[in-house]
Amino acid sequence: MKQYNCCVVGIGAVGAEMVKLLRRRKFPVGKLVVFATRERTEMIDGIPVEVRVAGPGSFKGMDFAFFAGTEGAKGASKTVGWQAVEEGCVVIDNGDDFRMDPRVPLVIPEINPEALRQHQGFIANPNCSTIITLMPLAPLHKAARIRRLIASTYQAVSGTGSAAIKELEAQARAWAAGQPLKAEVYPHQILFNVIPSVGSFKDDSGESTEEIKMRNETHKILDDAAIRVATTTVRVPVFNGHSIAAHVEFEKPLSVEQARELLANAPGVKLVDDPKHAVYPLPINASENYDVLVGRLRKDRSCDNGLVLWCAGDNIWKGAAQNAIQIAEEMVRMGLK
Ligand SMILES: NC(=O)c1ccc[n+]([C@@H]2O[C@H](COP(=O)([O-])OP(=O)(O)OC[C@H]3O[C@@H](n4cnc5c(N)ncnc54)[C@H](OP(=O)(O)O)[C@@H]3O)[C@@H](O)[C@H]2O)c1
Repeated sequence: MKQYNCCVVGIGAVGAEMVKLLRRRKFPVGKLVVFATRERTEMIDGIPVEVRVAGPGSFKGMDFAFFAGTEGAKGASKTVGWQAVEEGCVVIDNGDDFRMDPRVPLVIPEINPEALRQHQGFIANPNCSTIITLMPLAPLHKAARIRRLIASTYQAVSGTGSAAIKELEAQARAWAAGQPLKAEVYPHQILFNVIPSVGSFKDDSGESTEEIKMRNETHKILDDAAIRVATTTVRVPVFNGHSIAAHVEFEKPLSVEQARELLANAPGVKLVDDPKHAVYPLPINASENYDVLVGRLRKDRSCDNGLVLWCAGDNIWKGAAQNAIQIAEEMVRMGLK
């Protein structure tokens, strides 16, 4: 079997899971190289991993580079992303820097794998909340066309990265010890709280960057800019696993029973829907689960052709590392690499 030389750039919350999942999914890795901002050895899944700093020529001889560095001007994707493409490898980027770039396919393999055929060496992974929301919505869109989506997110602290996971844990320990709580990553205490702000507020629209991503990325992935999208993104004191309440209005009628059947057969989606017996998607059950869980399926009585659902998925796995590896798996399957 052909093997592929891979590198992972960034070894925080997403990068570490990327290394773990490449092993667990048995991706045919030849050489594996890990880059971050300084050299050291990290223990990942009980195995020591050498971390290096990328420089000119670092990506030569690599087949895939999975980028999981921070976003923005100093982040890995902007500083060395296109250098990696020039040096001959396919970049699969977890960050936001190039998602809306017309050169860059934005791919969820179960939904729009064909977009990979247009790639120019750089492929973007969508935002974690967008992936988890669209996994159950895409099969419904195919059947009845979504006209309007109102999504409210309940996002875990792991979505902010490793520093936020440590902050929630430190606040829990301080609270149990009767000590004052320190808030450094978030502007407010996250323990026993919810914060209606994910990302940042860059313009005067009142929408956060995370809310804008949900709309723009939904249009690009479903290739339908006519879908009206309104989102409220909220950080909750959950370690891992994002949940979303989605209110969806369709062009054509779609019964709860039809939707249930479509979701039961959708790849990467698991129907978990027996609320009378306390069975519904929970972030705790979605965490470290390859599937996005969907339930609380019901008619939206406030409009014609409306449905409401609740879904939960692992933001670090399906929302980032797993989806990126699935893109590489799909490229190999399609003979694109
Ligand atoms: N967490 C999620 O749920 C999630 C979901 C989807 C997408 N993403 C995206 O995935 C990316 C990584 O997120 P994360 O949560 O893993 O962040 P994180 O825990 O803060 O880790 C960031 C990693 O990036 C490395 N890094 C930063 N700048 C770099 C550069 N110029 N060159 C090489 N490495 C660099 C850091 O290196 P050091 O260790 O040396 O400091 C660190 O290992 C971000 O773009 C994020 O938006 C995250």
